[in-house]
Amino acid sequence: MSEALRDQFGRSIEYLRISITDRCNFRCLYCMPVEGLAWLPKTEILSYEEIASVVRQLAPLGLRRLRITGGEPTIRPAIERLIAMLRDVPQVEDIALSTNGVRLPELAQLLRDAGLDRVNISADSLRPERITAIARRNLGFDPITAAQAAEAAGIAPIKLNVVVMRGINDDEITDFARLTLNHPWHVRFIELMPVGGMRELTAEHIVPSDEVLQRASMLGALEPGGGPPRGNGPAAYYHFAGAPGSIGVITPMTHTYCGSCNRVRLTANGRLRTCLFGDHEVDLRTPLRADEPLESYFRRALAEKPKEHALLQLRIGGLQALSQVGG
Ligand code: 5AD
Ligand code: SF4
Repeated sequence: MSEALRDQFGRSIEYLRISITDRCNFRCLYCMPVEGLAWLPKTEILSYEEIASVVRQLAPLGLRRLRITGGEPTIRPAIERLIAMLRDVPQVEDIALSTNGVRLPELAQLLRDAGLDRVNISADSLRPERITAIARRNLGFDPITAAQAAEAAGIAPIKLNVVVMRGINDDEITDFARLTLNHPWHVRFIELMPVGGMRELTAEHIVPSDEVLQRASMLGALEPGGGPPRGNGPAAYYHFAGAPGSIGVITPMTHTYCGSCNRVRLTANGRLRTCLFGDHEVDLRTPLRADEPLESYFRRALAEKPKEHALLQLRIGGLQALSQVGG
């Protein structure tokens, strides 16, 4: 058996984010331009069989947890088929999905039955007109219904991801925080990253997480802890005494957590990307389609995983939208 994968800074790679499409049925202000993104041709996108093959080859090297992302993963047909295939890989302990939640009411039970463990739902507002204004599509999305569908299907934990934007949705911080008093949901406030060609959003729209916590604590004292079990990510969690849910903050703009970064990403077109920012990618699709073993490519990718990213300096080389790399 080969040695577990570790990068040059000793970080082990147990967690893979898998983007299965670059497309989306929303056009969120902070993520995608309304028009002008060139979609990947279908032939360039990994099939479910190819994705499962990457996971089967990475699993013996230490991979344990998976997250399926996009674009919007649920717009790809029969995503439950992929989940079932990944569930069959013996070393895989945990499968999560990041979704905008639009299709959860119809899909949640199917996904759960296929083996999905946990879900993150993007929910930037609780007000219908505002949801449409931020997503720039009216699909009748209601985050509460989506989270309830996931809960009823037995998916847990359920996280709601709120990208906080000053003057756009920051007046709903307490409304979101209040949900944790009555539901076992984890509401995570994310600092806006002004990446790529976003015309509508600038550094002035960033609300630092300290301010978010201060505003949430208008509802009551926040105590540290209470977050979901087995969290993979960099969120710090708090809760109101006795509340079933929790409040998390994710602070890409005011803190870095590269030192504990445990993740790599597989892009929809089969590149292994070891940092969200910068140009650290190794093509897996070519060797995969040539039936070549992937281990040496994994090792090369990891050897190149950078120590930290340059986001704080806003030197973001070439990254157009997070939808292209899976968030
Ligand atoms: N800033 C912060 N978070 C972002 N996401 C996407 N784009 C951005 C951005 N510019 C995250 C959000 C969203 C998920 C799909 O990716 O959490 O819900
Ligand atoms: Fe789609 Fe998610 Fe990007 Fe919004 S943030 S456009 S839902 S991929």
